[in-house]
Amino acid sequence: MLELKHDLKLAKTRDEKARMNFVSGLRSYVLNDMANGMRTVWDAQLEPDFRRARRRGPKDGADVHRAIKPNEYFKFYSSLRVTAQDLVWQSVFPPLDRQRDELKRKAGELQRRTRLGSLTLQPGFEVPRTVSAIDVHMMAGNYDGEYDTDDVTAGALYDNGLAVFSFGLMGQNLDDIGQSIAGFIRRKYPDFRPRQILDLGCTIGHNTGAWKDHYPQAEVHGIDVAAPCLRYGHARAQAQGRAVHFHQMNAEKLDFPDASFDVVFSSMFLHEVPRKGIEKVFAEVHRVLKPGGLMLHMELPPNSQLSPYDAFYLDWDSFYNNEPFYKPFRDLKPEVLCRRAGFKPQNYVQFVIPSIGWYGEGVWSEAVNRQDEVDSDKTGRLTDGVRWYCFGAWK
Ligand SMILES: C[S@@+](CC[C@H](N)C(=O)[O-])C[C@H]1O[C@@H](n2cnc3c(N)ncnc32)[C@H](O)[C@@H]1O
Repeated sequence: MLELKHDLKLAKTRDEKARMNFVSGLRSYVLNDMANGMRTVWDAQLEPDFRRARRRGPKDGADVHRAIKPNEYFKFYSSLRVTAQDLVWQSVFPPLDRQRDELKRKAGELQRRTRLGSLTLQPGFEVPRTVSAIDVHMMAGNYDGEYDTDDVTAGALYDNGLAVFSFGLMGQNLDDIGQSIAGFIRRKYPDFRPRQILDLGCTIGHNTGAWKDHYPQAEVHGIDVAAPCLRYGHARAQAQGRAVHFHQMNAEKLDFPDASFDVVFSSMFLHEVPRKGIEKVFAEVHRVLKPGGLMLHMELPPNSQLSPYDAFYLDWDSFYNNEPFYKPFRDLKPEVLCRRAGFKPQNYVQFVIPSIGWYGEGVWSEAVNRQDEVDSDKTGRLTDGVRWYCFGAWK
């Protein structure tokens, strides 16, 4: 398990650390070893059975899901993965419960003492039911749950939970996505010098801050609907000396004027938004982007670019991990979404970017001059050899 380095990190007893390490190890085992085992069962037994019975191969992830569902290996894999997911959050609660007041005090102090960036919350803000009515990926209370005034619990739960969940693959600051992608864009387009950058669905801003590192002259903004995550994220950014402006705002209805940003970015955001909401988000991004600006979304690769087995594998979360919008999003075609929002087809971009933390700077910077294809086994997964998929368009 990775140890957070900033001032808001939770103090843990030896037993609590051991428990977190166990959960990280269990997840790594399920997502690597067991996932490989399940694939072998599919290739060696279930896929040939499917072909014999139907006289054709599976046409999509749903075909694979139906065929694999009764299998014992799949059931064991799924059961253990659900348990491991629940344990991620369970392992954070004891130290978090103990330090909730202390954390709130520290966050408040950081906000008062350091005057970097800003935090703008909206009293009476209506959190969309797509966030308030579910505990997405089984995170108790979800992003917006509040237990107290000026509460930061959900932000701390997400930060510490992500450290357990990602078993080190997101880097020391949990910002491998932001660092890999912002750095890639800076190298690939050296003449592009964004002055205003916006991150949608920023949660605690761990990937937002990476844009400030790569473009220190830029004004960097992050929006989210969840107040406790934004409070925590602002304090976290202050603790790390990063000037980021956090706003409570719905990405489907942004409060920014037309043409106000050079980059509009998001990471792991769209798959938590329902289909109708996604269309509104894209229309808003098109509106707030300046001509010549770049929209870029880091996401799980779309089903249309994956084999039926890999489509099934990534859609698992939609069925067993409280992610109702995950598969509907991944069934959409990114280039069609961009076109419908008003972006010209010739301005569409798509990248597969090696994780800088996993592969190191050498492999990562070589990718700047290539156009890597989606690699079913590696792209977008938290497993050996992770590579980040992103798509978008220039306005
Ligand atoms: C998976 S998290 C994103 C994590 C983060 N961007 C990252 O880099 O890992 C999804 C976030 O989107 C936020 N969200 C969901 N619907 C939203 C909306 N309509 N407008 C703004 N934020 C939203 C949630 O509150 C949550 O913090």
